[in-house]
Amino acid sequence: MEIDVTDAAELPRHVAIIMDGNGRWARQRGLPRVEGHRMGIRAVRAVVECARELGIPFLTLYAFSVENWGRPENEVSTLMALLREFLLKELPDLVRHRIRLNVIGEAEKLPSYVREVLDRTLALTAGHTDMTLTLALSYAGRNEILRAARKLAEDAARGRVAPGEITENEIAARLDTAGMPDPDLVIRTSGELRVSNFLLWQTAYSEFLFTDVLWPDFGKTEFLQALDEYSRRHRRFGLTEEQAEPPSGGL
Ligand code: IPE
Ligand code: IPE
Ligand code: MG
Repeated sequence: MEIDVTDAAELPRHVAIIMDGNGRWARQRGLPRVEGHRMGIRAVRAVVECARELGIPFLTLYAFSVENWGRPENEVSTLMALLREFLLKELPDLVRHRIRLNVIGEAEKLPSYVREVLDRTLALTAGHTDMTLTLALSYAGRNEILRAARKLAEDAARGRVAPGEITENEIAARLDTAGMPDPDLVIRTSGELRVSNFLLWQTAYSEFLFTDVLWPDFGKTEFLQALDEYSRRHRRFGLTEEQAEPPSGGL
């Protein structure tokens, strides 16, 4: 299948992915869930490489939700160990390709043996500007909005902002994603049709793409297909077709 995503104007600037289906992938093969997570890391590598080659500047991956802490202890600890292993293995490539690692969520909740590697990776890649790879770790959209609301309330109590003058920008600037563009495209694998507390504020006008493919089976081909579908969507942002895409060609 020939997919034309070479037109940079049609590419999303920010792709966010809800990587789902690792457990089912493993179960279908009679393997323990952890094997699904292990294979999921391969999919992460493929997608990061593809996004980098295409020049997509922001890629955000939902790797672990606040709600995921409620999973059986052995699954949580395996996921943490895999995360640490991923960060250690990935660092040379992040440096080579000048990719900045970024985290959203309550990273301080992660065990210290993960945080240590995470903090080091964040510091060593902080100056990179070619691409930003954001991992959502111990992340939940409502929790992020709640923390932003607390910051705003503190600033208001200290007289730094007047309640009547709070704008959307004031809120956005206090979210973990401050300074990042909103996702243009959100992909969710595994056939589930829900957002599961992901980027609730930021996806107000994102395009959503749901695929039945389980995350460990998601690769370059599936990513390119998603980008191809995105390039054929018409984003109107509440306006009419004519306003959003003037017939004279708004290039
Ligand atoms: C996604 O796969 C990975 C995480 C949420 C950490 P799941 O582990 O949710 O896999 P399923 O949904 O049970 O198949
Ligand atoms: C969403 O997947 C979280 C991540 C991909 C990290 P879940 O598997 O946790 O979501 P639900 O439980 O199906 O909504
Ligand atoms: Mg799941």
